[in-house]
Amino acid sequence: MAFRAVLVGCGAMSKGWLSALDGDLLKGRVQVVGSVDLDRATAEARAAEFGLSDAVIGTGLDAVLAQTKPDLLFDVAVPSVRQSIVETGLAHGCHVLSEKPMAATLAAGRALVEKAQAAGRVHAVVQNRRFIAGVRRIQRFLDEGGIGELTALHCDFFIGAHFGGFREVMENVLLLDMAIHTLDAARFMAGKTPLAVYCHETNPRGSGMGTARRPTPFSSFPTTLRSPIAALGCRGGQYELGKRVALHRHQGHAALGWRGSVRGQDSRER
Ligand SMILES: NC(=O)c1ccc[n+]([C@@H]2O[C@H](COP(=O)([O-])OP(=O)(O)OC[C@H]3O[C@@H](n4cnc5c(N)ncnc54)[C@H](O)[C@@H]3O)[C@@H](O)[C@H]2O)c1
Repeated sequence: MAFRAVLVGCGAMSKGWLSALDGDLLKGRVQVVGSVDLDRATAEARAAEFGLSDAVIGTGLDAVLAQTKPDLLFDVAVPSVRQSIVETGLAHGCHVLSEKPMAATLAAGRALVEKAQAAGRVHAVVQNRRFIAGVRRIQRFLDEGGIGELTALHCDFFIGAHFGGFREVMENVLLLDMAIHTLDAARFMAGKTPLAVYCHETNPRGSGMGTARRPTPFSSFPTTLRSPIAALGCRGGQYELGKRVALHRHQGHAALGWRGSVRGQDSRER
């Protein structure tokens, strides 16, 4: 019997989720019985696109969950409402699968773990970057001792990330929304659990993000957001994670070991 699921947040990323449900792995295993977005037209359009003619459409999560009584809540809304959405889903007895990021602070993340435990339900958070073929290839190579014991891992993130939507006005957008992808790939490749994270973030005028979002005299000049995230203390070693964002596209990891180094030119490559 198929799991019954409600989807909340019907923006850009929800298309990826609904496409995945239509794919070979999941087809027929999940029935989307409800679709919720603050903007009803957005929820309706997404439901129509995927032929969800029987799904209850709504703008209030609580009401749709009460009406549909699903097993699962798919949380693809913006990060700022994650906590309340997860709590609502758990309160309705749902297992919740959320998009990244889980939370903006460690305390908020821990609170969600406790809520899920108390409810006896699973709250899982998507980490898709580690499933990309190039990332897994590097992980295997490192794991097989290709460069000996790992001594450092560096990351570049130059992707000119102007996707529109919530990120354009969000403060600390690289740290709180996007950096988790590169960090997750790094911790997966390294096979280490970070013990602590240090981040020094700057948001210069002209980045186009957050409070630095204001006109500059060079409006056609390429904008740059630089955010070095450095010195991740890891069990059994240290590695460094440097992140920068600019308009030219380049994204990848470089690992250094006792016997050599390896570089992934674009860690999003299939
Ligand atoms: N894993 C990935 O590769 C990946 C890629 C892109 C985005 N994301 C994540 O997916 C999430 C959504 O991103 P997006 O790009 O689809 O954003 P988006 O802005 O395109 O869509 C978010 C939707 O959530 C809706 N929403 C906001 N508050 C709501 C609420 N309280 N109740 C119901 N709906 C609400 C908005 O109206 C909007 O339609 C974010 O957490 C983002 O970080 C993950």
